[in-house]
This record gives sequence, structure tokens and C-alpha cells, in this order.
Amino acid sequence: MSKQTDSQLAEREEQLQKRYEAYRALGLDLDLTRGKPSREQLDLSAGLDAPINGAYFAEDGTDVRNYGGLLGIGPAREFGARLLGLRAAEVLVGGNSSLTLMYQYVAFAHLHGLSGPGTSWSAEASASRGKVKFLCPVPGYDRHFTICEHFGIEMINVPFAAGGPDMDAIEAHVVADPLIKGIWCVPRYSNPTGHTYSEAVVRRMAGLPRIAGERFRIMWDDAYAVHHLTDDPPPLANLMDACRALETTQGLVVTGSTSKITYAGAGISFLGSDPGNVERFSRFLSASTIGPDKLNQLRHTRFLPTAEDLSAHMHRHREVIEPKFRRTIEILNEELGGKDVLEWTEPQGGYFISSDTLPGLASRVVALAADVGVKLTPAGATFPYGRDPQDRNIRLAPTFPPMAELEQAVRVFACCVELASVQKLRAG
Ligand SMILES: Cc1ncc(COP(=O)(O)O)c(C=O)c1O
Repeated sequence: MSKQTDSQLAEREEQLQKRYEAYRALGLDLDLTRGKPSREQLDLSAGLDAPINGAYFAEDGTDVRNYGGLLGIGPAREFGARLLGLRAAEVLVGGNSSLTLMYQYVAFAHLHGLSGPGTSWSAEASASRGKVKFLCPVPGYDRHFTICEHFGIEMINVPFAAGGPDMDAIEAHVVADPLIKGIWCVPRYSNPTGHTYSEAVVRRMAGLPRIAGERFRIMWDDAYAVHHLTDDPPPLANLMDACRALETTQGLVVTGSTSKITYAGAGISFLGSDPGNVERFSRFLSASTIGPDKLNQLRHTRFLPTAEDLSAHMHRHREVIEPKFRRTIEILNEELGGKDVLEWTEPQGGYFISSDTLPGLASRVVALAADVGVKLTPAGATFPYGRDPQDRNIRLAPTFPPMAELEQAVRVFACCVELASVQKLRAG
């Protein structure tokens, strides 16, 4: 498109402007922001209520109606271990949100202390008159960044390379600054880029606690552990095994949940680390709760009792959402293929398509779309502090809208991208 003459561009702008006004006249009310399961997906777990039916004793003898069981019931710890590639003794089972566990873990490390009073990140930072910092591969998950912002933890952007985050940059940062206390990672089908980390990245990640110190934590958010969109999912090496080999398990915190397996608002969540860490974290939690919702844990373990059941269930999710991803990509190709105005990912799993406009146009595209009734994730949302230094990234979430709405929204999005791009090219 950049090779076109000004009169060609002017003509194209006029066509796009007409189309854009035609969209406005439709009075649309569409939304491409919601990274959540559709109703059809939630209906796949309709059988979740049946297995309890008065049978309140878990296989390990726990009466799930009563108080207690901070670490979770045995079968649920085993479920989490299978899901996340851990041992059951390394897993704590929480409530309906892994994000809550991440928040609580950061609160524990930052304010309370990983090994008791005097060992908190904040105490260490005050002693050296510095600030606690986290590394954030970007673009990334906005709610991770919100946790850091909430605790006043400074965030440092790290770019992605081919096999995941740029490990050279990460190692250089942790060597240079002992107040870097953690890193956010979504190792499989990263939100939003879709990266699955390579074996080399996982191996280097396992060595990070050695150079970053004993209070450093890799926050390994495996939210999309089983959320494949292809028959041939990319492999992800097991970081806990790699850490075991290097004796760095204390530096690893793995999280995940069934939010996008069963019910996003009523699933169960997991936090895994070495058993000593898990025990200390559960003691921290004991000040705020006598125990989690074990009834929910039990119904999950009965609903999806084996790895095969889980895999078959995830295949049914795939049947619902894969056509939506495929259609979104087809439309982007039809509308924008070969025009050099947008790059987008073709994810093999997860919940998002990540797109990059020409530099400086993401906010303009989001505003143009909003003006004709299509809500897009705010520009900058995928970066710490909501600041995309190049104003390029826009995250698309195709799972929730019905197909017809999705198609319409993607066409409007494409029109806005091209219109903004033509205007920019004409302005020179
Ligand atoms: C990477 C990532 N982690 C965590 C979550 C939320 O997980 P939960 O529902 O278990 O709090 C999401 C939801 O979009 C996510 O994309």
C-alpha cells in the first residue's frame, strides 16, 4: 500500500470512508474484547453438578462440606498436578480464580516475607533505598501488570524473540539489578501473542533463580495448558523438572485454573511450587481463610476424573472455538492480506489473536471502531502502565461473540485499520 500514488490512496480513502459511514448507519453494538468462554462452551460443563448429589465425602475421606483443607482435597491436588505437570505434594488448590492466587502470592512475598518477617521484597528494597521490580515480556496479560501496579512494583518491558521472551535481555537485567524479584510468564499460548516457549527458553528460565537470588520468583502462569486449537500442539518442556535438575524449584511458582475448562466464574485454581514454599504460602493464607470451597473441588474431580476425560472435554471446546479463530483469520486475509497495514498471529491455542498496526495507529483504530459501535481492547492494555511505546498492539478475542457478530466486528476492525493506515500514508 505504501507504494501507491497519492491519487490511488485518495481514491481508496474515499471508498473506505463510505464503507465506514455505512457501518455507522447500521448502529452496531459489537464487542471484540472479551477473552471468555461463550455460552455454548459453558454448556459443555452442564454435567458438573450431577456428581455430588449428596455424596460429600472425597476419596481421601474429607467431608467437603466442612471447614479446613487449606491445601485442597487430595483428588483436586492430583487434578492440578496432572494439568500443570507437577507432583500433587507441590500443589495448593484455591477458589475460582488463579489470578487471586497470583495476587496473594505477590502480597505474601512483597509485604509478608517468603521466609517470615524481615524477608519481604519491600523490606529488602527499603534497606537498599530502591524499588522492587518485575520483568514483563510484552505484549502481555494486563491483569498481571495490574497486580504489580497495585503493590507499587516497577515493571520493566522485555521483548519477545522467536522461542519466547528474550532470555539474553532477561539474564542481563537480573544480573544488573538484585531488586528484580520476579517475571510474569504465560508459557503456553501466551496472552496475547500465542507464543509457546521453546525448550531452550525453558532451560534458561530454570537457571534464572541461580543468578537472580533466593527471593526471585518465576510466575509461570500456565492458564492455557490444555487449550489447543490444533491436532499437533507445540511441545512445552516441563519447567518444574528443569528446576529440579538445577535445584532451583524454590524460585518457581506455577499457576493455572479450570476457568476456561469448566466455568470461568466457578472453576477451581491451582498454585504449585516446591512443597516448602507451598506450606509457607498456605500458612500466610490461613490468616484470611479457614479453607477453600472443597465442594467445588470435589465436583470438578468427579466430572473430569482422568487425563483422557479432560482431553476429550477440551476437544469439545476446540470444536466450538476453532471455527471462530479460523474465520477471523480468513477475514483478515481477505480484507488486509498483502496490504502491509496489519500483522496478526495465527495461534495454535489459547484465547487471543494479537495484531500490530503501523506504528502510532493502534489508539486511532480503537477510537475509529468505537465510533461505529465496535468495542476493541484499549490500545496499550497489553503493556505495563497501559503504555505501548509504539502504539501498535491490539488484542482480538474471538471466542465469546456468536459467529455472525464476530464476522461483522472483524470486518469493521479491518476497515478501521485500513482507513487509519491510508490516512497516515497520505499525511506522509
Ligand atoms: C494468562 C492468563 N492468566 C490468568 C487468567 C485468569 O485466570 P483465572 O480465571 O483463573 O483467574 C487469564 C484470563 O484471561 C489469562 O489470560
